Amino acid sequence: MPTTQTREISAAKRLDNVRYAIRDLACVADEVTKQGHKVLALNVGDPLNFDFQTPPHIIEAVYKAMRDGKNGYAPSPGIPEALEAIRGEAARKGITTVRDVFVTSGVSETVDLCISALVNPGEDILTPCPDYPLYSAVLCKLGIALNAYDLNEEDAWQPELPDIARKLTPRTRGIVLINPNNPTGSLCTRQMLEQIADIARRRNLVVFADEIYDKLILPDSNGDATPHIAFAEVAPDVPCITFGGMSKNYLVPGWRIGWGIVSGDAAAVKPYTEGIHRLLRARLCANHPEQYAIKPALEGPQDHLIEVQRKLRSRRDLTQKWCEATPRVSCVAPRGAFYAFPRIDIPESDEIFVKELIRQKHVMVVHGSGFGQKPGTQHFRIVFLPDEKTLTNAYAGIADFIRERYGLA
Ligand SMILES: Cc1ncc(COP(=O)(O)O)c(C=O)c1O
Repeated sequence: MPTTQTREISAAKRLDNVRYAIRDLACVADEVTKQGHKVLALNVGDPLNFDFQTPPHIIEAVYKAMRDGKNGYAPSPGIPEALEAIRGEAARKGITTVRDVFVTSGVSETVDLCISALVNPGEDILTPCPDYPLYSAVLCKLGIALNAYDLNEEDAWQPELPDIARKLTPRTRGIVLINPNNPTGSLCTRQMLEQIADIARRRNLVVFADEIYDKLILPDSNGDATPHIAFAEVAPDVPCITFGGMSKNYLVPGWRIGWGIVSGDAAAVKPYTEGIHRLLRARLCANHPEQYAIKPALEGPQDHLIEVQRKLRSRRDLTQKWCEATPRVSCVAPRGAFYAFPRIDIPESDEIFVKELIRQKHVMVVHGSGFGQKPGTQHFRIVFLPDEKTLTNAYAGIADFIRERYGLA
């Protein structure tokens, strides 16, 4: 037997700052589960964990594709019928200057590819704070320093323009706009999109418009359900990649289907688009049979969305009422997606808050610091996908926990 010496294999140093708080809390939840308790997970934005069902006609389309032998590699940019359907979707979103479209394994891969194809060492892109943690993880992986701009809670979580102005550097290449927003549930106003477009024009930035939740729009308290406004509709001339996908709007997060829509001045975006295609070819292709669901999803019946929006509206209203009635809690009412990001007034960190909440009340939400937040503020993110009864029980547990641990404000 040869003698082997087992030494620890260290992970790359650049991963030191990669955090994914949404899933990191699972260790605490495991501890509680081992003690025999059932944990209510309000931490992962997966509708399929609750009473939402994938539209049957898109399941049939994938089943048929598999039976028809579409099980080999697909063309790297995506199958032609899916690309055509995504162009149609871009037109419905009001995007008139489409230069390219491509299919990816979830919007997660679009984010990774599009950032990797743009940013050189020493350059940066502006990301929102709070943000969806994948953006900072990809930047960490590439060794790019984070450059985050604030969303302003006092202004319904709109991007804070003076902070964007402060954070821009001569080496800033792009700006990420998550709209509808995760984790805050906010929607950008047209005026805000126009102002960001002006900055992008002046500084030659690429705008990454993450619009994965664009069909999950909720009316405000006056019943106003102004539809989502696509950034690329407002700014057809600005180099932009609109991110879209099937996970949320079509209730198939496990299929891993997303896409990018490149728009803007044709000559300006050409070299960058070619760079993206080099990466698309290097990773061969996105999931093949699942791509056959894109056309029936985008062009077929949208009935499921009526039901999804009805449920989300009722659950958002319940969440908002609870926030308004609970001491130490306040919240900007979410207008899109299925997240609320309440602020809490407590004398300890929100990370301790969420960990103790899991241990004592078996309810799992995510701490605001896991997404980034202004110093001195504390928040938590709720996924309000569960039915009303489950949410009511969860909120009773959180209210009891706040009262028992911190007293009334
Ligand atoms: C804002 C945002 N972008 C991208 C993603 C990733 O989506 P996908 O499942 O398409 O990879 C998510 C998932 O929660 C998200 O919230």
